[in-house]
Amino acid sequence: MRTRLVVGNWKMQSTASAAEKLARKLATFKPVSSVDVAVCPGFLHLPLVAQILAKSCVELGGQDCATNPGLGALTGEISAHQLKDVGCRYVLIGHSERRLTIGESAGVIAKKFTAAVEAGLTPIVCVGETLEQRRQGMAVEVITGQLDATIKKLGVEGLGGAVVAYEPVWAIGTGVTASAEQAQEMHAAIRSVIVSASVSIGDNIQILYGGSVKATNAAELFSMPDIDGVLVGGAALDADEFLAICAG
Ligand code: PGA
Repeated sequence: MRTRLVVGNWKMQSTASAAEKLARKLATFKPVSSVDVAVCPGFLHLPLVAQILAKSCVELGGQDCATNPGLGALTGEISAHQLKDVGCRYVLIGHSERRLTIGESAGVIAKKFTAAVEAGLTPIVCVGETLEQRRQGMAVEVITGQLDATIKKLGVEGLGGAVVAYEPVWAIGTGVTASAEQAQEMHAAIRSVIVSASVSIGDNIQILYGGSVKATNAAELFSMPDIDGVLVGGAALDADEFLAICAG
């Protein structure tokens, strides 16, 4: 039985006072059903949010980490070890905004994934196709290639302690959600790629859907057999909306 996981990605959207306000509202969250909840604030606000959420059920994640796991001379970077040190359990790896806007390669993403595992964090590795790739019928091929790059680096065992997030690029921040059936089809394809390398890891890995998730579409997504949770961007900035998704 896979536990449901709901993760809020605050991206580069908050000031310190907004992050504090949001964290204070989330700190009162009491899950009614079995659900793990985490938020990924901007790096600058991690210590503040960690302090506010310390005694709550909401866990913490980073939005990215350096390719080097530990401490070292690497100006401007934040390592997985530093994220762990500030109280993170999770870290997002390979979000499409980093792949496409920042230009992170599959090789860099695989290194970051390895660094996260080495530091004892749970990487949430994000995969997803663009609209053009979907139109060309390449969606499964694209996400398989993105996953393979990670599997090649660490072996399928590396995915043992990881989470996968399927986030179609065309659904991120656009208000267009993949239908529950479209998402389920992709989640099943992702699971079967992992199952073909390891049945137990494939059966147990949590696969999240991300892309314009709201309280109004979460329950339908959760009803799908291979959707184990959601990665929420815009709607995670509204505490009531995010908590309604968690309760869904
Ligand atoms: P969105 O973002 O919910 O605003 O579409 C999701 C994400 O980028 O993780």
